[in-house]
Order: sequence, then C-alpha cells, then structure tokens
Amino acid sequence: MSTLPAHHSSMTTYKYLYSVIAALICLVSACSKHTPTEYVFHLPPDFPPPPVPVDNPMTLEKVSLGRHLFYDTRLSANNTQSCSSCHLQAQAFSESLATGVGSTGEVLARNSLSLTNVAYNETFTWAHDSLTSIEAQILIPLFNEAPIEMGLTGNEEAILARLQKDATYQKLFAAAFPEQNKNITLDQTVKALASFIRSLTSFNSPFDRYAYYGEDDALTDSQLRGLGIFMSEKTECRHCHGGFNFSQSTNQHGLAITERPFHNTGLYNPEVPPANFDQGLYDISLREEDKGKFRAPTLRNLQYSAPYMHDGSLATLVEVIDFYAQGGQNLSSGPLKGDGRAHPQKSDLIKAFPLSEEEKQDLIHFLHALNDESFIENPLYSNPWKTQP
Ligand code: HEC
Ligand code: HEC
Repeated sequence: MSTLPAHHSSMTTYKYLYSVIAALICLVSACSKHTPTEYVFHLPPDFPPPPVPVDNPMTLEKVSLGRHLFYDTRLSANNTQSCSSCHLQAQAFSESLATGVGSTGEVLARNSLSLTNVAYNETFTWAHDSLTSIEAQILIPLFNEAPIEMGLTGNEEAILARLQKDATYQKLFAAAFPEQNKNITLDQTVKALASFIRSLTSFNSPFDRYAYYGEDDALTDSQLRGLGIFMSEKTECRHCHGGFNFSQSTNQHGLAITERPFHNTGLYNPEVPPANFDQGLYDISLREEDKGKFRAPTLRNLQYSAPYMHDGSLATLVEVIDFYAQGGQNLSSGPLKGDGRAHPQKSDLIKAFPLSEEEKQDLIHFLHALNDESFIENPLYSNPWKTQP
C-alpha cells in the first residue's frame, strides 16, 4: 500500500502532462477552430485600415477559405472558370484581354478591373453608383446571365454540393464559420471571397516608400518631375485620380463620402451609336448628365494591368497620355466614329494641353513609380491549390 501515494503522484504527473499536451494540440488545431484569428491588414505605419462590414469581420480563416474559392474552377457551373481566370495575380488581378470572356464563351462588355486595394473603394465596377460593397459586387460574376460569367444561376445547389464533398473545404468552412452548422452556404462562400478580396492590399511601390516610409530617394528625379506634372493645373490628373489610391473613389474609416467619382473623359461620342454602346453610369441611372461617365480607376500597378480604359481600347500609357493631351479622342472611322472631345457631358477638367516629349516621359515614369512588384509576387495572394482541384 505504501507504493500507492507514489503511484498516485506519478499518475497525477501524467495527467498533468497529458492536459498540457492536449491544450497545446488544442491551440494549434482543433480548438482554435472555435476562435477565428483576427486578420491584420498589411499597411504602412499609422495608415487607416479599410472599412469592414460588421456582419463580415476579417479573419485569417475566412481569407484563407476565400483564397481557395477564388482559384477554384468548381465555382463555375461548367467547371471551367474561376475568379482568377479573369483576375490574374501577375496582372495585378486584371487580365490582358481588352474585355473579359465568360465561362460559356460569351464576351463581356468591359475590361477586367484590377483588384488593387479595392477594400477602400467607395463604389464597385467601372460605372455603378449604388454598388457599394464587395459582397454585393461578387454576386455579379457569380450570377450574371447577360452575359454569363460563372453561370451559378439555377446551379447553386449543385455547386455547393461539389464544395461540400471536398474534405479540404469541410475543414476550411468549419474553421472560417465555426458557429454555423455543417452545411456550406452561398452566404458563407460570398463572405469568404469578399474577405480574400479585401486582403489584396498594395502599398509597397516606390511612391509608397517615398510618401509613407520616409525614403526620400525612392523616386528618381524624372519621377519627381512627373509627380509635379501629375499634380499640376495643366494636366488636372490629380482631380480625378486623387487620394492614396489615385482613384478618388476611396472610402476610408472616418472620412466623409467624397464627391461622385464618375466622369466623361471624351473617349467616345459616336455619330451613330451601336445598339450595345456602353454609356457607363447612364445605363444604371438613365440620367442624361451621366452619359459616358465612368469611375476613375486606381493608377496603381498600371505596368501589370494593360490594356486601359473600360473597354481596354488603349494599349499603352503613351496612348493614354496622348489621349488626355488631345482633350479626348476623335475617331474618323469605325463603328464608334465621332468626336469624343465634343461630347456634351465631357468633364471641364479634360482639355487639350501641350506636353513636351520629356514631360511625357517624366509623367510615365511617375506612373511607373506606382507599381508594386511585391503585390504580384506576394505568396499570400497566389493559388493555394498544389494540384488543380
Ligand atoms: C469572365 C471574367 C470575370 C470573372 C470570371 C470574374 N470577374 Fe470580376 N470583373 C470582371 C470585369 C469585366 C469587371 C468590371 C465589370 C464592370 O465594370 O461592369 C470585374 C469587376 C470586379 C470587381 C470590382 C472591382 C472594382 O474596383 O470595382 C470585383 C471585386 C471582382 N470583379 C471580383 C470578382 C470575383 C470575386 C470573382 C469570382 C467570384 C470574379 N470577379 C470573377 C471580370 C470577371
Ligand atoms: C475628369 C477626370 C479625369 C482626369 C482629369 C483624368 N482622368 Fe484618367 N481616368 C478618368 C476616368 C473616368 C477613367 C476611365 C475612363 C474609361 O474607362 O472610359 C480614367 C482612366 C485613366 C487611365 C486608365 C486606367 C486603367 O486601369 O484602365 C489612366 C492610365 C489614366 N486615367 C491616367 C490619367 C492621367 C495621367 C491624367 C492626367 C493627364 C488623367 N488620367 C486625368 C478620369 C480622369
């Protein structure tokens, strides 16, 4: 009997060790599923984080799930297309086609937008004034029927069943939505995708190092001269491409809503408009003054996101700058023949200006100072599937 206390105490030690090990295992795997980890944005020092909807807080687990979904062709009805088919990381999450092509081959009217810092966007797509959340925007590629993009309409149940069958998704969904039951839902899918899109921040360009990290020599002399031209009253670029995202359409925490970020730049003014002519914001609002108005897109990562404009019609930055220097575009032939410079809704800020060859180069060099190579190489944003699912 005298051995009992000793035996007992060693049992206690084992039990203690066991509980410590169990707690450790719990920390690294099973139990951590019940407490998702807060996502911390990758931003310059003291930079305001983007707004996040209260019903979809950012967590590492949701971002990870969203990243898997973003790169998964099983999300389109016919298994051929993922979000990444039109939003390629190497192209700053845009694509090199002038306009996108959906999963069934239908051609889209517009150029795929870059997904650089879209968490800060006040509105979404090239021209929509009431599409104000990523969650709402995502329903378009998923459900659009004219043209079909990913073709979910009528196929929701089948697609969710596909995901439900996959052991990887069972784990990822359970970790991202621990409080909900085992059935994968469309709402969870959209929330996770939106969380991944929100995580796509890009603040490591030479301009950022100059402006936010205090690296005085991050910009070349030519880029600094280009910055001056960009800010000048001559070119007016900064009026429409203002703010840290060079898009005007940004919505930071605590900042009042900015002015309406839609403008007619004098790109087109067809004498005989084709039937499917893209009128931008007018197609949504049906207000005469909105004809030909589009959102001023971000100017970050332009090196990767060519071609340019809502229809991908300008191939290079030289073409874009020549376009502005002429105060718009006059087409003397083709289906859109007509003088965009004379469009009645053209912005007053678009007017021809003289620009020497050297000034043009400086301006282009400045635009290239907004390229962030680490964005297109960031492993956290890349395809997480080792083999194609
Ligand atoms: C067939 C090509 C295609 C696919 C697939 C596609 N997109 Fe897009 N995406 C576009 C185009 C084109 C636009 C611009 C649409 C417009 O302006 O009307 C766009 C715009 C966006 C925007 C708005 C960006 C901004 O700055 O306003 C977001 C966000 C987005 N897509 C996310 C996604 C997600 C998430 C998926 C997958 C569920 C997806 N896209 C699938 C082509 C595509
Ligand atoms: C009146 C507002 C306005 C002014 C001024 C302006 N832009 Fe723009 N910019 C826009 C709008 C709107 C678009 C999209 C037009 C479209 O797609 O039809 C755009 C598109 C662009 C694009 C294409 C981006 C992409 O991803 O396709 C570049 C590059 C650009 N602008 C650079 C400049 C430069 C440089 C200046 C100064 C010379 C300038 N902008 C002046 C409103 C403006």
